[in-house]
Amino acid sequence: MLLHKISEVREQVKEWKRQGLTVGLVPTMGALHAGHLSLIKKAVEKCDRVVVSVFVNPIQFCPGEDLDKYPRTLEADTKLCNDNGVSIVFAPTPNEMYGDGQMRTNDTLTYVIPPFFYVNTLCGKSRVGHFDGVCTVVNKLFNIVQPDYAFFGQKDAQQLIIIKKMVQDLNIPVEIVPCPIVREESGLAMSSRNKYLSEEDKKEALVLSKILNNIKTCYKKGITNVEALKETAFQFLNSHHDLEYLEFHDADNLEEKQIADANTRVFIACKVAGVRLIDNILLGE
Ligand code: PAF
Repeated sequence: MLLHKISEVREQVKEWKRQGLTVGLVPTMGALHAGHLSLIKKAVEKCDRVVVSVFVNPIQFCPGEDLDKYPRTLEADTKLCNDNGVSIVFAPTPNEMYGDGQMRTNDTLTYVIPPFFYVNTLCGKSRVGHFDGVCTVVNKLFNIVQPDYAFFGQKDAQQLIIIKKMVQDLNIPVEIVPCPIVREESGLAMSSRNKYLSEEDKKEALVLSKILNNIKTCYKKGITNVEALKETAFQFLNSHHDLEYLEFHDADNLEEKQIADANTRVFIACKVAGVRLIDNILLGE
């Protein structure tokens, strides 16, 4: 069932809750791919009813980012959801979510602001305000759907850590279910933004997973010094790649590491053919 109105979703969820059914939420921005499908399948397995939200959230895009050209494929997304046991596809307009059709700013809209320590690093450094927009919309979706479980991919590991922190700090009654990264056979992490890449670009984009896998191999061989592990990346980089960061952080609290251990997550962001891609790997897995 495709719904656009907050009130319609609330009414349906209220009925499910009355019947004692558990509700799962998979928040997405649409352009669904195999990564999203894995979240949906996990949600359908775990919950009696599943809501997938499809909303390209304008307030999490920074000026100059790809808000206007972000792929929008609602018809195909709805079919994928219907074919895979989803009860509701919730696709609100920006107007339905934020009112009056104007792009809201924090002068006029109540925002959920995650802690500075969690955002002043990795993607948050170049995408200033991005996680404010993410936390605000996810909090709104939690309030609208009131899910028992919400499913997020590890591909956006910083986002997942920040959302877990928000849930803990604001006592939101939802269990966050992290789901593993899904990769193409080549090793490329699935992402809606891969749609911007040509086949040639996709080969260049393998640089992210190659760097991460090589670091993990080196770690398993006994190298734990982060500077030494970072050094191993340079052999993979060429003029097609614009490395934004390669960093080592604690997988739970994002503290930066100088010496890697099993709970260290290695995070990479790199532009390939002008497309900003991210990936990460947990060393102890
Ligand atoms: O990961 C995403 O697709 C988005 O950041 C999310 C969580 C759906 C919020 O808009």
